Parts: sequence; structure tokens; C-alpha cells
Amino acid sequence: MRMQLPLIRTSNETHPGGRSALTCRFRCGDACFHPAPNTSDNPYVGDVIAGALSRRSVMRAAAVVTVAGAAGAGVGLASPAAAAEKGTGGAGRHRPAKGARGLRFDAVAPNTADAVTVPDGYRQNIVIRWGEPILRGAPAFDPEKQTAAAQAGQFGYNNDFLSLLPLPGERNRQLLVANHEYTDEVLMFRGYDAAAPTREQVEIAWAAHGLSAVVVEGDRRSGKLTAVPRHPLNRRVTATTEFRLTGPAAGSDLLKTSADPTGTKVLGTLNNCSGGTTPWGTTLHGEENFNQYFANASRATDKRYGIGTAASERKWERFDKRFDVAQEPNEAHRFGYVVELDPYDPTSTPRKHTPLGRFKHEGATVRLTHDGRPVVYSGDDERFDYFYKFVGTKRMKKGSSRAAREHNLGLLDEGTLYVARLTGDSPAIEIDGTGKLPADGEFDGSGEWIPLATANADGAVSHVDGMTAEEVFVFTRLAGDKVGATKMDRPEDIEPNPHTGKVYVALTNNTNRGVGTNAPADEANPRNANKHGQVLELTERWNRADSTRFAWTLFLVAGDPEDPATYFAGFPKDDVSPISCPDNVAFDPHGNLWISTDGAQLGFHDGLFGVATKGERRGELKQFLTMPIGAETCGPVIQDRRVLVSVQHPGEISGATVEKPASTWPDGAGRIVRPSVVAVWRADGDDIGV
Ligand code: FEO
Ligand code: CA
Ligand code: CA
Ligand code: CA
Repeated sequence: MRMQLPLIRTSNETHPGGRSALTCRFRCGDACFHPAPNTSDNPYVGDVIAGALSRRSVMRAAAVVTVAGAAGAGVGLASPAAAAEKGTGGAGRHRPAKGARGLRFDAVAPNTADAVTVPDGYRQNIVIRWGEPILRGAPAFDPEKQTAAAQAGQFGYNNDFLSLLPLPGERNRQLLVANHEYTDEVLMFRGYDAAAPTREQVEIAWAAHGLSAVVVEGDRRSGKLTAVPRHPLNRRVTATTEFRLTGPAAGSDLLKTSADPTGTKVLGTLNNCSGGTTPWGTTLHGEENFNQYFANASRATDKRYGIGTAASERKWERFDKRFDVAQEPNEAHRFGYVVELDPYDPTSTPRKHTPLGRFKHEGATVRLTHDGRPVVYSGDDERFDYFYKFVGTKRMKKGSSRAAREHNLGLLDEGTLYVARLTGDSPAIEIDGTGKLPADGEFDGSGEWIPLATANADGAVSHVDGMTAEEVFVFTRLAGDKVGATKMDRPEDIEPNPHTGKVYVALTNNTNRGVGTNAPADEANPRNANKHGQVLELTERWNRADSTRFAWTLFLVAGDPEDPATYFAGFPKDDVSPISCPDNVAFDPHGNLWISTDGAQLGFHDGLFGVATKGERRGELKQFLTMPIGAETCGPVIQDRRVLVSVQHPGEISGATVEKPASTWPDGAGRIVRPSVVAVWRADGDDIGV
């Protein structure tokens, strides 16, 4: 049966990047309204694809559409979340579906329900919501009486990356670490006046940013997961928590401020988007659109990161001069790093590792080489920016002794940072910007990792003419420019598949590709005005520290499968789910790739998808769940019996406020919309997708 795409559009007014105006305003500081910071003299080539989707777009899948909170009306349901715990979205018994092992579920049909919709036979619950108290002494959430002190002990806003770490010795418990990417003041504060935020509102926002560590406990009879408040490992890290800058750029003049003449201590972490879990039991968190928190930059002080020349959206500079670049020009140099948290030591000082470079880190994922050195991949999420790899020189020490942990916390401070350059193997004339496959049948080619700088225990060496190593680590984008890195369509999560070793790079979209004087389509970014994004697959021997070459192919070219410009690794397109704007990636225990989307441009909500990466079903993509109104899917964790996702910015629709919400998720009409973490499991208790 073919299913019509819904005609309702709930993401109303969209910005050029595809998101609601509200998302653009608070999440990335209206990045799409500014010219891409990486400008190019390349001529316009190729036709701009219309991008308009055929309304026939469809997928062959059993439809399960949840009605809870439909279209934001609440429709008399007491609580969508409560309904969900009873099984909304999975009313029937589990029927094994076809698919690769791990993906045997009936794909969820694209929809615009104000709910998290899961496959038939699956269940869900809310693990934790914004504002739930996690630290001892923190009060219950009351949005009408919120204070900064309360928020500092409660789960933060807009949860993004999630890591679930083992907790040996505590039955059925794991340690959840979450990013809180940004705040949405109009959805947090009744009567919020963007022109005149109060000190209390600003301080609440500082406390709602950052990270949370919170112990969670699984139900013995189901996959239900709930937070354990007041556990001694629970922790909040906020925009005012002390961090240590590490690596050779720490202490450099570029990082000194009036409050920190040592250039080694920073208050807070900002805009933590995605992240990674290290093999030594810590978590990494990418500082992404940090530029938006700073005001009054000039050309000289910004250096290609897009810091505004006027007041910032949130006006933090009025309450702390470090956010005013005109007064404190180096403070912004202290954001844009990969930060590392030791979640097993709640008293530890988290670190910002300068050798991984400074850019809009989507996240950072780590693997070990065959001889135990860390390899870290990280994308710079901006139109026409680059992706990077860091290879450490020191080997991980096994065990959990204090000495081993201290050693491992320094692994990311010594090693070489590389940027990627890709070459296509088809004649340029065959890449016409429409997404039409070249004559060899694949968008593919070769690539190399170009070294930028090497950090050593006693200093650093630059590999870029005209830049010192410190400059490379602090102005990494400029280093990428100088060595001719490949301009990509917004590199997001990058992660090696533990089963096959192949590395997947989500490229979310780039509506400026080939438009005006911007860089035209190339074989790795083959569509002009690219609305839907693509997923790149790298083949490289990353388990060798000296690996500097790779082969690549486009694994997915996203969109409506009926759009001839899409590609699903050669799998028949009438049997896959539509997908748009791939963002975060993860792997299940079977080696399938799971992809969450951000800003899907197909007329339905964002979601989570699984796709086989090997065997006969390679490229068979199936939707596992869908998001409520205005929400983005983030931070997927796929375990044997449980899927965990962040529901980020639900209700973030242009014009929505606390008084006029666009969504009633998760608690129903009359209750404030709250970003939350959701767990999904199989009703019959068996493994996911088998
Ligand atoms: Fe926070 Fe790259 O999305
Ligand atoms: Ca080719
Ligand atoms: Ca994104
Ligand atoms: Ca995201």
C-alpha cells in the first residue's frame, strides 16, 4: 500500500536552512541569514534543483500514527506521555517484520503527530524532562517560579547528545550523560521580552546550558528507564562551571583574558551538540554554535567564526562583560572546543582539549588504533566547512586506577590534527548539480588527511605555512582554508562502524551549494541547493596511527525516494523510508547505522532511522520513530533492548511562546512544553529489531 505524505505542515515559516525561524534564532544565531563564513570565488555551475517534492512520495510500510496531542490541540487527552507509557504508538502485538537483523520492525510512517510515534509492538517512556531535580536539595520544577539556583540542580534545557555508561555494582543502573545545547527563552519564560531579559532569566539560561550526569534505573520487567535523583554521581555542569584548557594552546596569549591571565581556566561550556563516549570511560562534548553568545565583534576579532558585530540574541553581554568581544576580545577563543568530562568523578574539573581544534564541533567520536592510541573524528557544522581527524600519540592505559585515569585524561592533548581533502573519481562534467549519478554509477573517490599541527608534551609544531601551532589550534578554520580542505555540506556526526570499520559522515544539507558565487556541487556534495543532505562512507585503516589516505563513497543521498536525485546505497527505492537532513549517527549491536534527523524538509516531522550497512539489505532504510511538533531527534543510543533518544526543542515553531504553545508534548494541554529524553523498548521484552 502506498501512503500519502501528510498535507499538514507544522513547521510553518522556515528559514533558508530549513528550520523554523525560532530554531534558527536560538540554536545557531540565525546562521542561515548570514553569508557562509567560508566564502569562495568559484563560479556558479549547474542548475539549482527545484527540490519540490512530489506529493506522491511514499514508502511501503505499515503505518502506525499516534494521535496523542495531534496538531497541538491536545484533543482532550490528559497526557500524551502518560498515554505513551501505556503503549501509544505500539498498540498491537509484536509481529516480526522483514529486514536486516536489528531492523525487523514495521517502519513508522512519516507523520505530523504531536507525539513520539514508535513501531507497532514497541513501548516508550519519558526518562527525564527539562527541570526535573537531579541534585540533592534541588526543588521540584515550577516554571512559574524558576530560579537559577533551582535550575543548577535540575536537568538542563534542550537535551542533545546522550551517553549511557555502565555502573558496575548497581543493579539495573547506568549513568546517563546528556548535553544541553541551548536555551529557548520564549518557550521557557512567560512574557519573555527579548529586548530586555532580566538578570534572573539570563542566569537561569546559564544554568540550563551545559551537561547533566544522572544515574538512571531500568525497570526489571520492561525497557522503562527512570532517573535516580540525588545519586552521588549526579552532576550539573553549566555555563559557569570551571573548566581547564589543556594542550599546547592552553596558556597562550590568544586565550588570556582579564579574568584569567593564565589562559588556562574557562567558565562554562556552551552549545554542546553531539559528543562521544571514550574507551577509557569519559564523555566528549562538542561546543558548536558558540559564536551566537558573543556580541560586538569586529572583523579583526572574529576571524571566520561568525560572531556578530552587534548585540547578541540573549544579551548576556549586559550581565557579564566576557560575552562582549569589544571588552574581552579573547573570551570567545575559549569556546569552540571538544570538552571532556569524567562522569565517574563528580568533583573533577572538565577539560577543553585545544589539540582537537576550535571550530563548530558537532561532536567527537573516539576509537583506538590497534596499538591503543585514540583516533577522534569531528565535523565542523557550517555550510562549506570541513571535517577533521585527530590521532593521538600516547596509548590508553587499561584499568581504573587513579594513575590510569589521569593518564587517559591527557590522551587528547598529544597528537596530530588533520583535515580532510576529497577528490572525486568521475569527470567533473558528470557532476551536474542535480544529484544524477555519474557514468560509473557512484559518487565516490579518494581522500587524504592533511596534517595541520602536532601537539607534543613539550610544545607543538605547525604544518601550515604562516600559522603557528597555537594559531592552528585556536583558528583551525583558517588552517583548513590554507591547506585546501574540501568544503562540505555541513559535516555533523562522524562515527566508525564497530562491525565493518567503515566511517560514516552525516552531511545535513547546504541550501547555498552552487548558489550565487558559492562553491558548486562536487562529487561528494553532488546537489546544488542541497535541502536534504547525504551520508558519506569512508574506508580507511584508521586503526593504524599513520593512516592518511581513504576511499569514499556516498552511502545515502537523502530525500524522497521518488526523487531521482536520491540514492540508498543501490537498494530498491520503493522499499525505503523517506529521510531528510541526517544529523546524529549511532550503531546498533548488529552494525546497522542509525540516523537521527534535524529539520526534515519533506513535510513531516524529524525522526530516527535505521539502515543496514552490509549484506543484501545494505541501504534498506527504515524509520523507527517520529518526533512531536517542532522537535529534532538527537543523541540516539541503540542498545540490545532499548533505544534512547533526545526530543530536543519540542514546540519550537515560529510565533510559539509559553502562553501560545505549538505543542502539548510531553504532558498535555495546559502544561509547559519540555525537552525530554525518551526510552523505547519492545513490549514483549525481546531485542530491538530481531
Ligand atoms: Fe547542533 Fe550540528 O547540529
Ligand atoms: Ca564516481
Ligand atoms: Ca544539526
Ligand atoms: Ca542536532
